[in-house]
Amino acid sequence: MSTARTRGLVGAALGAVVSLTAAAVVLARRGGEAPVWGLLLLGLSLSMLTLVLAMRPARGESAAREGHRRDVGALTVAAAHVATENELRALVDSARVLMWLADVDGRRTHVNSSWLEFTGRALEDELGNGWMAGVHPEDARGLASGRDFAGRSQAYESEYRLRRFDGEHRWMLERGEPRVGPDGVRLGFVGSCVDVTERKLREASLHEERAQLERKVEQRTEELARANAELAAAARLKDEFLANVSHELRTPLTAILGLTESLLEPSSPPVSDKQRQSLRTIEESGQHLLALINELLDLARIEAGQMRIESQPDVPVERVCQGSLRFVKEAAQKKHVSLSFKTDPSAVVLECDERRLKQALVNLLGNAVKFTPEGGAVGLEVAGDRAENVLRFTVWDTGIGIRKEAMGQLFRPFVQVDGSLTRRHGGTGLGLALSRRMVELQGGRILAGSEPGKGSRFTIVLPWRAGSGSRTAAPVSAAPPIDVEPGEACRLLLVEDNVDLAEMLGDHLRGAGHQVLLARSGADGLAAALRERPDVIVMDVEMPEMDGLEVIRRIRAEPGLEHTPILALTALAMPGDRERCLAAGATDYLSKPLNLKSLSAWVGRGRRTP
Ligand SMILES: Nc1ncnc2c1ncn2[C@@H]1O[C@H](COP(=O)(O)OP(=O)(O)OP(=O)(O)O)[C@@H](O)[C@H]1O
Ligand SMILES: [Mg+2]
Repeated sequence: MSTARTRGLVGAALGAVVSLTAAAVVLARRGGEAPVWGLLLLGLSLSMLTLVLAMRPARGESAAREGHRRDVGALTVAAAHVATENELRALVDSARVLMWLADVDGRRTHVNSSWLEFTGRALEDELGNGWMAGVHPEDARGLASGRDFAGRSQAYESEYRLRRFDGEHRWMLERGEPRVGPDGVRLGFVGSCVDVTERKLREASLHEERAQLERKVEQRTEELARANAELAAAARLKDEFLANVSHELRTPLTAILGLTESLLEPSSPPVSDKQRQSLRTIEESGQHLLALINELLDLARIEAGQMRIESQPDVPVERVCQGSLRFVKEAAQKKHVSLSFKTDPSAVVLECDERRLKQALVNLLGNAVKFTPEGGAVGLEVAGDRAENVLRFTVWDTGIGIRKEAMGQLFRPFVQVDGSLTRRHGGTGLGLALSRRMVELQGGRILAGSEPGKGSRFTIVLPWRAGSGSRTAAPVSAAPPIDVEPGEACRLLLVEDNVDLAEMLGDHLRGAGHQVLLARSGADGLAAALRERPDVIVMDVEMPEMDGLEVIRRIRAEPGLEHTPILALTALAMPGDRERCLAAGATDYLSKPLNLKSLSAWVGRGRRTP
């Protein structure tokens, strides 16, 4: 048996003896019965309590301590109800826990032997406020003063460090219970103290752990914020990079496509069949490159949250489908792949962004034809589902199919399932990623299913809101549609810093009968505009030093030039370009590469604009 337990047992026995003796003494003196029985009961329960505490098994130390604390609390409450000072002293003295008595001002009138054993001091030293000398200086300030005590009529609990006989400060949980006489007069307090140092240490280490965690969280949050800022900066850089790349690629493409177009015009000097074939190939490759640049820009816009959907009500379903099929017809014919189309007679119109839906369908149909070997079949089927209010556009093929493991990656940008196969088939792995996002922006989704060697099915599911109103956002179109109309000769100022482009556009416009003045910089352009007062101005936007927008602003500030038609040409094709050009004072906007016919038509129309 441990020493603590032995001491506990002895304490219990002693407690019993003392309380029984106290009871006998009181009985002898007063002859009253009720308080005696109360005291007897109390003494016995105190003995039992100490016994139980002593016999408590060592396991579950903290639970035991908690129970101990509760028991001591109960004891303190019970003690407060003992009638006389002597009875109380007898009780307090018999307790194996630190106990004390105090007057109404909190001054100690008695402490028990457990207390004295603990502090190692004499009783006289502890009485009055003497016991405070053992309280840790940091905690002494927080203890209630005499005046606070005088006002107290409720039980209280406080914690402070008390110096042990060996000089170590131990944390004590003090519980004080007011004592009130039979006539309601306050007699003072009886209190107990329990050593709760271990709990305090555990709390402190928990507190430290929590603080460490908080510091870690703060650190991580800071790191995240820094990473976010870096990401935002990288995203901005990417946007700028894309805008620049787009500009750098579009400018030469304008020359390539424009020159090819003008060489193929019937009015141009005749070319041999072989040359014509080469010119067509140049044009096709240029268009392919342009499509790729547009796809990259679309992706960048979607990722920057700048892709806007222009929903139109009542878009004819058949028109969208036939228009999409036309795009892949030639490729399918070349490969002897049959193309079929099946529509649902109930699916007549749909509210959607026609251009974006077509783009998605063309991507799916293009894939189907691309990944279907010679002699295979590709089809487009439309099915309306009134129950779910959705329209399903399914593109199926009898092609090579897709492995199950690869299905999850299909819609990620730049992912191609089989490098060797796709290298043979061409592409960049952007089509499905873009299609999905364009469909999702319209509230729909794309489902994919495939069986290797047998074929694939991709289904666009769109909400079927036939006939409901438009929810069009401000359009950001790379090239606003321009009606092709015959031009009318005019004096035209072309401001373009790229020599090849200036020459090509100048030749074309002269060929269309216009008198063309050429300026190679913003400053020259401004001077020429003020001097020559042309009928129409075609202004490149991206020029070094004074850019086209600045030139337009200055021209507009000039009396007499407020209404001269100005067409801004830009190779950036980024969202907001059109708005920026119009805000600077341009009459209209075209993005490079230009369609020469559109340019001629615009110039002709501009001429007629008052
Ligand atoms: N109908 C299909 N049959 C077999 N594989 C397909 C089919 N559609 C897509 N895939 C696979 O999914 C990949 C991703 O398709 P996605 O359209 O995104 O890119 P891509 O066609 O390779 O290039 P891009 O569309 O940019 O020209 C393809 O490379 C191909 O491996
Ligand atoms: Mg594709």
